[in-house]
Amino acid sequence: MAALVAHADTETCEASRWPAPSAPPSVDPATEAFVNRLLSQMTLEEKVGQMIQADIDSVTPADLHDVRLGSILAGGNAAPGGNVRTTPQAWLDLVNAFGSAAKDADASGHPPIPILFGIDAVHGDAKIVGATIFPHNVGLGAAHDPDLIRRIGMATAEEVASTGIDWTFAPTVAVARDPRWGRAYESYSADPQLVADYAAAMVSGLQGVLGSAEFLTPGHTLASVKHFLGDGATRDGRDQGEDVVSAAQLREVDGLPYEAAIGAGAMIVMASYNSWGGTKLHANHCLLTDVLKERLRFRGFVVGDWNAHEQIPGCTKTSCPAAILAGIDMLMAPDGWRQLYVNTLRQVRDGVIPEARIDDAVTRILRVKTLSGAFSRALPRDRPDAGDFAARLGSPAHRALAREAVRRSLVLLKNNHETLPLSPGGHYLVVGPSADDIGFAAGGWTIDWQGDHNINADFPGATSIYAGIEHAVLAAGGSVGRSAYGEFERKPDAAIVVFGEGPYAEFQGDRETLAYAPGDARALAGMRRLRAAHIPVVAVFLSGRPLWVNPQLNAADAFVAAWLPGSEGEGIADLLFRSPDGGPGFDFQGKLGFPWPATAMPVAYDPAGKARGALFPTGYGLSYAQPATLARLPELPHIPPARRARDTLFADAHVTAPWSVFVADHADQVRLTTAEQRSPHGAVDVKLDKGALIATWDGTQAGSLLVSGRAADLRTVAAGGLALAVRYRVTARPDAAVRVGIRCAAPYRREPGPPPDPATASAACGVPSGATVDLGALFRSADPAPGAGRETAWRTLTLPLACWSGMQADLSAVDVPLAIETTGRLALEIGDIRYVRAAAGSGCPVAKLQQPGAGATVR
Ligand code: BGC
Ligand code: BGC
Repeated sequence: MAALVAHADTETCEASRWPAPSAPPSVDPATEAFVNRLLSQMTLEEKVGQMIQADIDSVTPADLHDVRLGSILAGGNAAPGGNVRTTPQAWLDLVNAFGSAAKDADASGHPPIPILFGIDAVHGDAKIVGATIFPHNVGLGAAHDPDLIRRIGMATAEEVASTGIDWTFAPTVAVARDPRWGRAYESYSADPQLVADYAAAMVSGLQGVLGSAEFLTPGHTLASVKHFLGDGATRDGRDQGEDVVSAAQLREVDGLPYEAAIGAGAMIVMASYNSWGGTKLHANHCLLTDVLKERLRFRGFVVGDWNAHEQIPGCTKTSCPAAILAGIDMLMAPDGWRQLYVNTLRQVRDGVIPEARIDDAVTRILRVKTLSGAFSRALPRDRPDAGDFAARLGSPAHRALAREAVRRSLVLLKNNHETLPLSPGGHYLVVGPSADDIGFAAGGWTIDWQGDHNINADFPGATSIYAGIEHAVLAAGGSVGRSAYGEFERKPDAAIVVFGEGPYAEFQGDRETLAYAPGDARALAGMRRLRAAHIPVVAVFLSGRPLWVNPQLNAADAFVAAWLPGSEGEGIADLLFRSPDGGPGFDFQGKLGFPWPATAMPVAYDPAGKARGALFPTGYGLSYAQPATLARLPELPHIPPARRARDTLFADAHVTAPWSVFVADHADQVRLTTAEQRSPHGAVDVKLDKGALIATWDGTQAGSLLVSGRAADLRTVAAGGLALAVRYRVTARPDAAVRVGIRCAAPYRREPGPPPDPATASAACGVPSGATVDLGALFRSADPAPGAGRETAWRTLTLPLACWSGMQADLSAVDVPLAIETTGRLALEIGDIRYVRAAAGSGCPVAKLQQPGAGATVR
């Protein structure tokens, strides 16, 4: 058992150096007495149930009768009836059904224990159709105004409460230092003090001010601060990756917001996927228990992240004593909840988990439920703050606040020859397909997880950037034209070019460099053409992070960093135009919350935490009152050669963002986020070592190695002759078939109805059945390396994509371009994986690969 507890780090996390709160946390004796009494009446089954949170995609209200779970969540892609575009009423009905099932469950003579229902309302209640969508945190940081954040928290809480939901998984208080991280937009700032001030303000807004009469009264919602600890400090900004910072930095930079949030009454902390010193945070007893609970005197509960416990060596998503022993009080077990419950119960009975640890966890959960009023609150449908969506969800007051937040978050990076403000009575050309795309401006965690399936009809009551401009200009007697890339018939007085990154969320948003969409040259070419035609160019850049845009900055006369503004696009027109009466209108107030990079590589911080060599430092931002001229900028991105290869999926023991490596066995899969990862049930182990990826299958059950990323349509490149080339050598020859193939994402559907069956979806694409090839014989026949031990010589396997379509695979949404699976034993070393042009006339060799020695494809 000792091996399960990561005590080795106890000294290095320096718990005693964390600042203890000056006053002891307030304790409400009546609450403590109620909780203690209730705890003493509960069975072990009930206690373990409290410690588990399940996702609505995998649990029904009826399930609560046999397992009395503590909490339910709606994950990023989950929604009532599987329809993320359902009505707010359907949300309220579903939440009510869970609430009522918990209340009706047999409580063996003690008060029934209410569930907490949680959702990611991370920029407004943005999963709900019709909600107000506030700018993502990266934009809010530029406002440098905690009171604005508090007001946004209040509005968000009111919207969340309208659907009967008790808890939002917000705020994220990451201090992102490397914006290549795909979650950088969830971070308010790189300045820990600003994040700390905002953390306290957001918690106070969501929950009500601690100690005041309004605290957690109707119209408020429980906050949770996430992700503890160091989510914004991973190497290369890799999501869920390894922190390479000192204990002091972890404490003084990443830890600062937690102290502030707890001080403001935060009662839930979400643990992070990342690791520090090789230990996953979910297994870090020193940080979760010694620091957070003991030193910082946090009396609420720690919730785990989505199946994050399964990344701990020795854990699966259905069994993880290590996380509980380290200090996780509630495990987010979206789909594995039932078996996790069974296994955890057994582990307590077997003494693997001491009952005292269970009692501590449950005390904390019950304390939060009691203090938040859950025991005395009516069922969701009968609550005074639920329903009445017209008045609460996307209300005019909330939308006005969001519009104000947009105005406050915009940062003016350039305004040469005082191009801005424009006079609204003129003729303007609005350029860029995303100008009229609300989903594009809202970013990830909007309606669904990645936020990349949304169209304007999904945002009733919202206003696009284009609509905001059109409204302002027409109202002043001016006129507006539109074009995708700067074409025009009537010469405009100025062009407003709206462009930027598309929506993304967790790990799919990771990047190797900060170069803005290196492949998309059309917006830039359009800007240059307009400029050449002597038309002033105003760039409005939508992004989840500061990106290297020197060529675009040069091509524009004025440049506005607009971040991910959300549903109230008029906030942008508010700043671009003078008021119709010719008066000055609004001025820019936003100042950068992150340093803006001078090259395509992230800005470096010195040991004192000061950013060095930024193009624009934190705090930069022009205004009409304080104009300045920006000289022409160098246009060389200075990308180191190793980061330049965009066709590389893996090389030099580095998985190229946004690709990830997963290892999977019969039940579960887990992402490689540390130097070594084993599939949850142990079938496959991968290690990054000696410049290669070493994958070992132990032959106990089917195991796969998957290279995965956002689903891409590969039909055109396949037809154009693209192939995947894998440089490998065999270090232990296979003793069974080795299926190599591709997999596709479940087809995306807009219609309501049951989600598509992933089994058929992936079979249609090739794996696990159908169009894979068996390379067992090939790997067995590989020649030994000259003079070497058991390994074979390095070889390259070339897999032309067209061959998969020749085998009836559907290449329209490939999310796994390489899958290697065997039920036997095998060890492979993979040196690199790249897309290459297949040699002309090489035909389609994949089918031939099934025969040993298929020379045409093996170099
Ligand atoms: C994310 C959390 C989120 C949770 C529930 C996780 O994957 O890391 O930020 O709250 O899912 O959707
Ligand atoms: C869920 C998210 C979750 C993510 C984690 C998604 O399927 O919808 O809530 O954060 O998986 O990988």
